[in-house]
Amino acid sequence: MKLFIDSGNLKEIEILVPLGIIDGITTNPSLLAKEGGDYRALLKRICQLVKGPTSAEVVATDVAGMLREGRDLRGIDEHIVVKVPFTKAGVEACKTLASEGTRVNVTLCFSATQALIAAKVGATYISPFVGRLDDIATSGMDLIQDIVDIYENYQFKTEVLVASVRHPIHVVQAARMGADICTCPAAVIEAMFKHPLTDIGLEKFLKDWEKAQGVAR
Ligand code: G3P
Repeated sequence: MKLFIDSGNLKEIEILVPLGIIDGITTNPSLLAKEGGDYRALLKRICQLVKGPTSAEVVATDVAGMLREGRDLRGIDEHIVVKVPFTKAGVEACKTLASEGTRVNVTLCFSATQALIAAKVGATYISPFVGRLDDIATSGMDLIQDIVDIYENYQFKTEVLVASVRHPIHVVQAARMGADICTCPAAVIEAMFKHPLTDIGLEKFLKDWEKAQGVAR
């Protein structure tokens, strides 16, 4: 399963990329707004760091505006993936941009019918928001299972990019369901490394070795 960072923060990205497990980045207007400054320069820097699919979202809500912004974002770097919201205008813009060879990530997906429509218009990625569904007492991972099943039934090429991930269990469940990608906040990726028994086990190994070698750390 591919792992993306859901962040526009250069520090977080610079810490995680050298680990060799990051396959891409997703941003959204809120994440980029948090960073401030020149968003085009920031996106370019992120693409240079990650050298993988980097999603950047349009903020226009009409088709013409989305196409204009999408073509502009695509011009920033070869790794840019244009993100459009799942609206009728977003679906129409996705179809046109995809026909031009632009990779499109359809975001703000909350239902299997939305995911089906996005696949039918040639989306490269669909981003169902599992955390925001969980927030309203609806199982986000049930939606992932539905989408994975539907896409397999019809061999759609669209990849399932699990978004709004809140904890490592979302990642485990997504992987078990065969989702293609999880995009996670940096804190969730950090948490995926941690296990107390690993720390305790390493501590004991090192202590035993030092005692045997009569050396202190
Ligand atoms: O980037 C899209 C999505 O991952 C946002 O998630 O945490 O704002 O619900 P969140």
